[in-house]
Amino acid sequence: MEVSRPLKRKHEDGTSNLQAKRVKLLDSRKLLPIWPRQKDIRQYMRQGRVLILSGETGSGKSTQIPQFLLHEPWCKSGKIAVTQPRRVAAISLARRVAEELGSPLGSSSPASKVGYSVRFDDNTSPGTRIKFLTEGMLLQEMLRDADLKQYGCIIIDEVHERSVNVDLLLGFLKGLVRKRRELRVVVMSATADVEGLRSFFEDISQQSDTAVVINGTDATAGNGADDQGSWDGFSDDVSKPGTASATANGHSQNDSVTTCHVEGRQYPVITRYLDIATEDVIAASLNRIFQIHCKEPMPGDILAFMTGQESIQSLQKLVEEYAQGLTSDYPKLLVLPLFAALPQAAQQRIFLPAPRNTRKVILSTNIAETSVTVPGVRFVVDTGKAKIKQFRNSIGLDSLLIKPISRSSADQRQGRAGREAAGQCYRLYTQQSYQSLDQDPTPEILRCDLSQAVLTMKARGVDDILGFPFLTSPSREALEKALLHLYRLGALQDDGKISPAGRQIARLPLTPSLGRVVIEAAKPEKQCLPHVIDIVACLSVETIWLSVETEEARERAQIARQQLQRRQGDHLTLLAAVQGYTAENSDRKRWVDDHLISHRAMRNVMDVRKQLWAQCLQAKLLPKASTSSIPTTTQPDEETSEKILRCFLAGFSTNTAHLCPDGSYKTFSGNQTVAIHPSSWLFGRKAEGIVYQEFVFTSKAYARNVSVVQLGWLDDILA
Ligand code: CDP
Repeated sequence: MEVSRPLKRKHEDGTSNLQAKRVKLLDSRKLLPIWPRQKDIRQYMRQGRVLILSGETGSGKSTQIPQFLLHEPWCKSGKIAVTQPRRVAAISLARRVAEELGSPLGSSSPASKVGYSVRFDDNTSPGTRIKFLTEGMLLQEMLRDADLKQYGCIIIDEVHERSVNVDLLLGFLKGLVRKRRELRVVVMSATADVEGLRSFFEDISQQSDTAVVINGTDATAGNGADDQGSWDGFSDDVSKPGTASATANGHSQNDSVTTCHVEGRQYPVITRYLDIATEDVIAASLNRIFQIHCKEPMPGDILAFMTGQESIQSLQKLVEEYAQGLTSDYPKLLVLPLFAALPQAAQQRIFLPAPRNTRKVILSTNIAETSVTVPGVRFVVDTGKAKIKQFRNSIGLDSLLIKPISRSSADQRQGRAGREAAGQCYRLYTQQSYQSLDQDPTPEILRCDLSQAVLTMKARGVDDILGFPFLTSPSREALEKALLHLYRLGALQDDGKISPAGRQIARLPLTPSLGRVVIEAAKPEKQCLPHVIDIVACLSVETIWLSVETEEARERAQIARQQLQRRQGDHLTLLAAVQGYTAENSDRKRWVDDHLISHRAMRNVMDVRKQLWAQCLQAKLLPKASTSSIPTTTQPDEETSEKILRCFLAGFSTNTAHLCPDGSYKTFSGNQTVAIHPSSWLFGRKAEGIVYQEFVFTSKAYARNVSVVQLGWLDDILA
């Protein structure tokens, strides 16, 4: 008794803190444009099984819709899944919705109602009712449970981003709503373009044997009760005059698809263009940020859209340097980067209010376009560019290219300035350029390698890939290319069906090529899976090495990393880094500092390594005797090193090149010239053949993460 009393009090305190926060947040929830639409939305979901909801970013779709639907009859026995294209959004939304519901988050408590599941991080509990997850994770779940029976409602958010995964999910869900009459689907988009989606889903009643016509006899529609649950003081007549106007065009009761548009709260935004186009967007952004800061009164934070991590970090450095030169007459500047690879805690800083007399400058990729709402922004600086993944036929690979955004993306960016008050948007391009932009971004399915998508379809039993209900059909050529790649990997059989190896690959949270490397390493003649897991874990983070920019730093890094470097190249060097780190028991922080390695990246690697290990155990790829605690791998001898590299070759036989007499490298497939990236240990060295993980285009075509291979090994693979 003596012991339990304080513990109990602590628990009560924790609960009351959560409740206090919930009550506080309720007031801001009631101000959201979507709040007065609550009753309508629940009504639409009783009338139809698919709701297509468009609404401005920030109107409350992602946070409120799952809560509106939580107490509906069809969610009583099933969970609600909410998919997101990005991890950042899945995690931050789960955190926010947990707070709004006064619930602990994820696995921290069995009482938790809200959780999230992203690659290598499942934070849910048996009591989870609302689960935010990436699109890829829901597709993974479909491999284990094709009918998604644990869910009563699936919400597909940010559909306007049109990732390959979202297109696949829509295709599968179209079949699933025909099959599972009690299932509800909400498709949400930040743009008002809903017609395509509506006609995509419109035939779900007509073509199905088990089609449900919602007509009042359906159990879900006919219960008569208007309000299935009451929570958070919801009242139907809550409205904020003047802030939200909503229009909805619900269909008659016989329709299975309903569309609804919620207008956001939008203040006027003045938009300015450059008179003369510029190539140097970093200099132009720097200039504009200081023009705003020095001329525009506070408050009002600045949100600048950059292309990627590198441009964000370069600009951050410049803004911070210049800010030091400002006199104390000006407020301080707090620069906050925002990109997908940034750790959680750093990402969360953008949501905090700036300290007194300080202006926040958020430098973001297109994450802040629609996925994440940054409070306090009144000024937007738009470079008009984004890094976009694109399949390059000439090299047969996906590359990240910096491309102009679409007009609808530019408009989304502009809108971010007017969420809380009138704002300004500075487009760092001419008005003419804006007018020449494409109206909408090209769906990913039309521009990327489709191997993973095709493997997912095959694993879900879709034999006729060309007959799959795509929202936008990819070209026959792209699908055939993907099929060919999967044949090469041994993931498909001659009859076109998925092979047992393909099934194993599809269940791993890796690309088909990396999946093939993993299953190759588990073969009795290779037996080097623990080593390969260490390397694959490293490859799943951007880089473990701290960047070295000056000549002097490069020399220092060369010496610091000497012990880790392996003459066979980057894969075995990464392995040596993991081995060194895991063997270090006393002071890992000092170890990473000594080797100029990022501790954050290394901790991520350890996380991924743990999850991969667990997944390989589950898939019976590791010997039965293996435990869930991961041993430090032994230094590979010459023979094991060769086996490891041969495994990578099995997955990446198309990423190979040979040395030419003039010292350049030419790829085996495509005969394209490729240079070894300066970040590689093999940079400046020569090898008769190389295998590499990635092909990157900056000033020229580079191979990244490169290792030496013997031409004889290639003969075995390419034969
Ligand atoms: O989905 P949509 O863009 O329509 O809006 P939302 O994500 O539901 O965001 C509604 C509001 O919730 C935002 O304007 C923020 O004030 C707040 N929010 C937040 O504070 N933190 C998050 N992670 C997500 C939303």
